[in-house]
Amino acid sequence: MSVPTVLVVVVAVCVLCRCLIPWLVQSNSTLALLWYDVLLEMTLDFLTRTTRPQRLLQAVSINAVRGDPDSVIKAIDHFCKHTEWAMNVGDEKGAILDLVVMETCPSTVLELGTYCGYSTVRITRLLPPATKLITVEMNPEYAHVARQVIQHAGLQDKVCVLEGESADLIPKMANMFGIQAFDFVFLDHWKDHYLPDIRLLEDCGLLAQGSVVLADNVVCPGAPDYLNYVRYNLKYSSRFYQAHLEYTRVLDGLERSEYQGD
Ligand SMILES: C[S@@+](CC[C@H](N)C(=O)[O-])C[C@H]1O[C@@H](n2cnc3c(N)ncnc32)[C@H](O)[C@@H]1O
Repeated sequence: MSVPTVLVVVVAVCVLCRCLIPWLVQSNSTLALLWYDVLLEMTLDFLTRTTRPQRLLQAVSINAVRGDPDSVIKAIDHFCKHTEWAMNVGDEKGAILDLVVMETCPSTVLELGTYCGYSTVRITRLLPPATKLITVEMNPEYAHVARQVIQHAGLQDKVCVLEGESADLIPKMANMFGIQAFDFVFLDHWKDHYLPDIRLLEDCGLLAQGSVVLADNVVCPGAPDYLNYVRYNLKYSSRFYQAHLEYTRVLDGLERSEYQGD
């Protein structure tokens, strides 16, 4: 192949991957997740011999100011909007998360699903000085990256990243941390775990009257059994916040459910 032909092919592939496909998939949940979360990630992993969390961490190291959580959030949002999508709660839903955290003003916080620590940094930067956040991640590579992102934000003393499955760790929380109940729980792990895990939190006595549970992605990818449970249940007072899937135009939302007690 001649040099001009190679150049034309490279430009065509770039236009296809950076403009045409993102435009085509931006409003369709299945296509968007298939493109960003499967095809693009696999291709970039193969071409760069790195993983998405490693690439995200590199963007943080280069662009965020050490000890400044807001600059870490900004660096991740910029990376995900302009370079590579990633499954953080994102800026639009992140602003709703901020509001719910600020109005709850929690003393005890649990997050299920850490990934690279984006939402961990978002929540922790708003917590009063003595408050500690426990975040649970089952993938050791993601947990390793999250610890470095949290450290870069200067929040390592306020966060405990626990490695393991939520179903195994929830029953151990009370003993491990001497916690009576969580004031605020952020559910952002795999969606089919939302319902079993909120029930487990109840069974373990980790929700008290007034505890707020905020669940991400209740529309996309969706958690219909969970929504059915919290919306039609006298134990909860529930409210939906409509937004979009992180960094796309696909409809999504968060469900805020306040535990009313038994
Ligand atoms: C959507 S990502 C979390 C995004 C993160 N909350 C943020 O906004 O930056 C979901 C994460 O949950 C983790 N996960 C899924 N199911 C889990 C489980 N049962 N226990 C612990 N972690 C889980 C996955 O490995 C993944 O990293």
